[in-house]
Amino acid sequence: MEYLNFAIELARAAGDVLGHYMSRDKRVESKGFANLVTAADKDSEALIIRRIRERYPNHAILAEESGASGSPNSAEGKWIIDPLDGTTNFAHQYPFFCVSIAFEREGRIQCGAVYDPWRDEMFSSSHGFGAFLNGQRIGVSEVETLASSLIMTGFPYGFRDKIKTVVAQFEGFLLQSQAVRRGGSAALDLCYTALGRVDGFWELDLHPWDTAAGAVILEEAGGRVTDFSGHPFSIYGHEILASNGRIHDEMLQVLARVS
Ligand code: IPD
Ligand code: CA
Ligand code: CA
Repeated sequence: MEYLNFAIELARAAGDVLGHYMSRDKRVESKGFANLVTAADKDSEALIIRRIRERYPNHAILAEESGASGSPNSAEGKWIIDPLDGTTNFAHQYPFFCVSIAFEREGRIQCGAVYDPWRDEMFSSSHGFGAFLNGQRIGVSEVETLASSLIMTGFPYGFRDKIKTVVAQFEGFLLQSQAVRRGGSAALDLCYTALGRVDGFWELDLHPWDTAAGAVILEEAGGRVTDFSGHPFSIYGHEILASNGRIHDEMLQVLARVS
């Protein structure tokens, strides 16, 4: 629990940084067309990295804004950090964003914390010990069919090069489910699936920092996470299909039909 408690402490401290900037000049810059970064992304990441370096100087770090640092294959473990997941939402004052922090060792995500400072919701999980929201155990929904499901998705920054695939998948799920939502924070989309607020989630071309914490939280909540073909999910892969388990096969069928 040492690493999980530290991840929770870091996520809360970084969430305070995001809260600080919510009502101030966010100093929005562009990393590319429709790809933003703000002072909050940078300050949140700097705080998290500084505290990890102080506590665990031999651990590796993979963080969205500064990349890999420390010993890249440290046997002692690696922290995987998204200092602000949902930057576009944040920049527009749309309150759906979070901090995501996971700890990986021996090829497995050992634990993760995802914190939504707007709602003061801390999602957390340690492999083998269940998933929690603000300390209360959580579980996925009991919805049995895609036709009665509410599902989420997101569009990767590079979607313009894959517009046909992205639209075909969206159309496939729109026709088969009760409704589809596009949240704008993949880590929260996974946590909402873990909590049963939605029943499934899919997205192309995410990065390890988007999914590492959310995936362990979802699995520990009783959900299932794979690639688009039903193979085991890897945070280093390009596809994620996450669900309450019950509608997973139907979601796989939709993806197979449109791919
Ligand atoms: C993005 C969000 C979004 C997803 C994008 C991600 P960022 O992360 O998770 O929901 O659709 O693919 O890149 O840039 O806000 O940290
Ligand atoms: Ca992200
Ligand atoms: Ca980010």
